[in-house]
Amino acid sequence: MLKGKTVVIGISGGIAVYKVCDVVSRLKKLNANVHVIMTKSAKEFVAPLTFQSLSQQPVIEDMFDKVTKWDIEHIALAKAADIFLVAPATANIIGKIANGIADDMLSTTIMATKSPVLIAPAMNTNMYENPIVQNNMKKLEEYGYDFIEPDSGRLACGDKGIGKLASPEAIVENIKLKLLQNNFLKGKKVLVTAGPTKESLDPVRYLTNHSSGKMGYAIAEAAILKGADVTLISGPVNINKPIGLKNFIQINTANEMFEAVTDNYLEQDIIIKSAAVADYRPATFSNNKIKKSNNDMNLTLTRNEDILKWIGKHKKEHQTIVGFAAETNDILHNGQKKLVKKNVDLMVINDISKPYAGFGTDTNQITLIDIYGGKQSYPIMQKKELANIILDYIIKFNK
Ligand code: CTP
Repeated sequence: MLKGKTVVIGISGGIAVYKVCDVVSRLKKLNANVHVIMTKSAKEFVAPLTFQSLSQQPVIEDMFDKVTKWDIEHIALAKAADIFLVAPATANIIGKIANGIADDMLSTTIMATKSPVLIAPAMNTNMYENPIVQNNMKKLEEYGYDFIEPDSGRLACGDKGIGKLASPEAIVENIKLKLLQNNFLKGKKVLVTAGPTKESLDPVRYLTNHSSGKMGYAIAEAAILKGADVTLISGPVNINKPIGLKNFIQINTANEMFEAVTDNYLEQDIIIKSAAVADYRPATFSNNKIKKSNNDMNLTLTRNEDILKWIGKHKKEHQTIVGFAAETNDILHNGQKKLVKKNVDLMVINDISKPYAGFGTDTNQITLIDIYGGKQSYPIMQKKELANIILDYIIKFNK
């Protein structure tokens, strides 16, 4: 995914240095070229050999006094960088960059690079909240440097608060976003719904379905990488929010999803309804736990609004509406019927009876049909790849 891309990582001294080992390893798995520069204090936390082994490149250390060869090489590296990451970034290195101080290998290399620079701070909460540090960060943002906000939690010093280095996963997602974002959907607003809905019966029980949200989240992520402003409306799932979302709305019930969609649909250019919305909800909600009896129990269900059908009915000229059809039989025929009935532009049909497709799996097999009679089937693929295929189809469709 990052083949041919060069990531230079500047490591300054803090307990979070160990987490950067994971960042390097993740980037290598994505086939990036990774080069590491360590400050003197960073080396107190993790030995350069660890980073050398993980990056499969010599680590540039702060050795001004000993070696002059690096002096030239670090400028070459500053030029070669497609992106420069500073992690963990201490208050000290942030202060140095913000004030133009270049007195060691890392600060001089940052000064010399023209690549985008991502800074992931990690420090004690009081230091992070100190107005001097805040001002330095603001100043750097104005110069075009980007920050990956630290997490909150228990810090190494025992304090609780903001200042933990962002997770390696979040750091890598930010790098991916910076390196891979293109303009195919620049200026477009895309709304994606994902995951199941959860319809409560009483305080302990609910009706739901097997949707994992993987397809919808993959689409949201792919749309962000194509430069779109993405709103994600999600049912309860176990997936991290994609990095770079414009708007995230968490819902539980179909009614909540309906409200969130209708509140947000007007300004959207593309609406992709991959959520598995419950067609019915319990007719009544019992405030108390329903007690069992010796008899069978009948549950009365009442219809939920068909959200996609509602959008189809209220569709605006500039909008492209995409629906999903989860089918187990007569899949093309049923998908075609849904395309017409719900007045959508494109229907993504999948056969959820297959073990490699539909709910919960990482793969899917889809057929796309559009209102102009276009039809295209695809082999079994990763949902992440299919997300791109669906978006590319929409982009072509809108030309
Ligand atoms: N959908 C919706 N609101 C509902 C039910 C479904 O917006 N109350 C949307 C889904 O998000 C999907 C499409 O309609 O994009 C088709 O969903 P699917 O479950 O395949 O079909 P249904 O319309 O529910 O029909 P059936 O369950 O009878 O197959």
